[in-house]
Amino acid sequence: MKAIVLESRENPVVYKDVPKPTLQPVEVLVQIKAAALNRRDYWISTGKYAGLKYPTTLGADGSGIVTEVGSDADQDWIGKEVIINPSHNWGDSPDFQGNDFKILGLPEDGTFAEYVKTETQYLHTKPAHLNWEQAAALPLAGLTAFRALFVKGKAKKGDKVLIVGVGSGTGTFVLQYAVAAGCQVFVTSGTGEKIEQARLLGASAGVNYKAQDWAEQLRQLAGGFDVVIDSVLGESFSKIPALCNPGARIVTFGATMGDIHALNGRMIFWKQLQLLGTTMGTIDDFNAMSDFVDEHQIIPVVDEVFPLTDAKQAFDKMGSSSQFGKLVLRV
Ligand SMILES: NC(=O)c1ccc[n+]([C@@H]2O[C@H](COP(=O)([O-])OP(=O)(O)OC[C@H]3O[C@@H](n4cnc5c(N)ncnc54)[C@H](OP(=O)(O)O)[C@@H]3O)[C@@H](O)[C@H]2O)c1
Repeated sequence: MKAIVLESRENPVVYKDVPKPTLQPVEVLVQIKAAALNRRDYWISTGKYAGLKYPTTLGADGSGIVTEVGSDADQDWIGKEVIINPSHNWGDSPDFQGNDFKILGLPEDGTFAEYVKTETQYLHTKPAHLNWEQAAALPLAGLTAFRALFVKGKAKKGDKVLIVGVGSGTGTFVLQYAVAAGCQVFVTSGTGEKIEQARLLGASAGVNYKAQDWAEQLRQLAGGFDVVIDSVLGESFSKIPALCNPGARIVTFGATMGDIHALNGRMIFWKQLQLLGTTMGTIDDFNAMSDFVDEHQIIPVVDEVFPLTDAKQAFDKMGSSSQFGKLVLRV
């Protein structure tokens, strides 16, 4: 079968033939229709990810049809249209993942291929209102955004929510979820065009993070925030606590711009802020996310669809951060 393979540090995104997976009794085979990129795939391709393993078929997100099962007990799955939860071996505590936690697409072979094997516990029915590409865009970013906003951030109707870098795949999900939940949403982004796209999805207003006075502009537009979702960190994070209302929750799951620089910690204790980390989510989080997406008929924002053969172009686009929403591969 054809796949996108992390072959070596020098050749990280290679379209080539690999053997079709063979199944253990607990496993099923999914014929992939579409797969989606996450920044994780990009970090892996640039060698900036822990536990690199060569060769590995890349990709955490996929939608497709179950074509084979390893055990007679799973026969009912054959022919089902599914999405795959890439958050595997979560562990015992709902609050954090255990030591055996892993994400599909490293170390296990992933979804940028004609077939992927997984276990039925990670299969979910494809939302009926989504096409294959939209469905493939949902799992990793949709799950992470859901847990960040609702499970950790405790966002509720009427809250003022700030999304830092809304053009990210995760950022567009946070925006759609927060709008659906009745929050008032403000965003930062790198271009006026993306801020306009966010407004069309229901954001109240946004500022360009490249402006010297972006934080002051936000303060004037919004007053203060009850929930901040920041997957960027870096230098700008030091301005976030001052923008928070007392009791606000700041949630992070990424560090696109690197380490946090000097931070005024006094704001954190005086305003009784909560700084919360999160990563992907539990199977219960995935079910809650999927129910929310069905209930609100949320359609993931797909920036562009590439054929699997052109995966390298999708990786390059992610590297330039020019996308608004998800980059998807049609298999
Ligand atoms: N821990 C987890 O479970 C988990 C899960 C998913 C993602 N992540 C991490 O979360 C981050 C986002 O992931 P993703 O896949 O959604 O990313 P993505 O689609 O590649 O988006 C990256 C975005 O970063 C924004 N950005 C770049 N420079 C910025 C700056 N100086 N200030 C503010 N925003 C800036 C851009 O926003 P604009 O387009 O608006 O300019 C860009 O679109 C990554 O670091 C990823 O590794 C972690």
